[in-house]
Amino acid sequence: MKIIKVKDYKELSRKASSILAGQLILKPKSVLGLATGSTPIGTYEELIRLYNEGVVSFSNVITFNLDEYCGLKSNDINSYCNFMKTKLFNHIDIREENIHIPNGLAKDIQKECEDYEKKIKKFGGIDIQLLGIGRNGHIGFNEPNLKFESKTFLVNLDEDTIKANSRFFNSIEDVPRQAISMGIKTIMSSKKILLLANGEEKAEILYRAIYGDIIPQVPASILQLHPDVTIIVDEKAGSCLK
Ligand code: F6R
Repeated sequence: MKIIKVKDYKELSRKASSILAGQLILKPKSVLGLATGSTPIGTYEELIRLYNEGVVSFSNVITFNLDEYCGLKSNDINSYCNFMKTKLFNHIDIREENIHIPNGLAKDIQKECEDYEKKIKKFGGIDIQLLGIGRNGHIGFNEPNLKFESKTFLVNLDEDTIKANSRFFNSIEDVPRQAISMGIKTIMSSKKILLLANGEEKAEILYRAIYGDIIPQVPASILQLHPDVTIIVDEKAGSCLK
């Protein structure tokens, strides 16, 4: 694992975007695994800046998002589909047909999950997967105590995740209880992983993920076994790291 400590969120976003831009410059047809949440917003802003400056193009890039809530329409303000459009896709030259986000409204969720896996395979796998980390150690929506060997699946969200994500909704009751998420096995199959963490609320769980036992109670701990992980932390999130 390579750990890059930076001062603050701004520096974290710059560093992450330059790693992703480097990937796209070296391989314009890259398959990117993308995340939502507060953490990558600054990285997406920086990528948009690099695109506007002509440094990178997304015209041949394929993307797969980690997860999507069940039951929200794609244009719902809280859907991850809407998040990705407003925070990144609407501002770059990515082609609509190259964007993949699980369909949380699919009638046959099992089939949707299987098809998602097939599509990732068809494009040759994910070159670099961007990740945030939940306060409970989740990556994607792989909540504590779930199987490490799972592929894209229907997940019941953890109480802690529902509480943490309620900040985006009118009330906690409006937060969906289920989501489709890439499984740990899907994430671990990515060629490279880039995990970002900022803020003191991530400090303790990040320490456990990097230095603790590799256990399903801390889903992100499995990343210790991946051969190519880069973690970028700001001073606050890195405060427990040696
Ligand atoms: C988002 C995702 C989640 C978040 C995590 C951290 O697609 O899969 O695992 O990365 O919940 O969220 P933030 O960045 O809001 O702290």
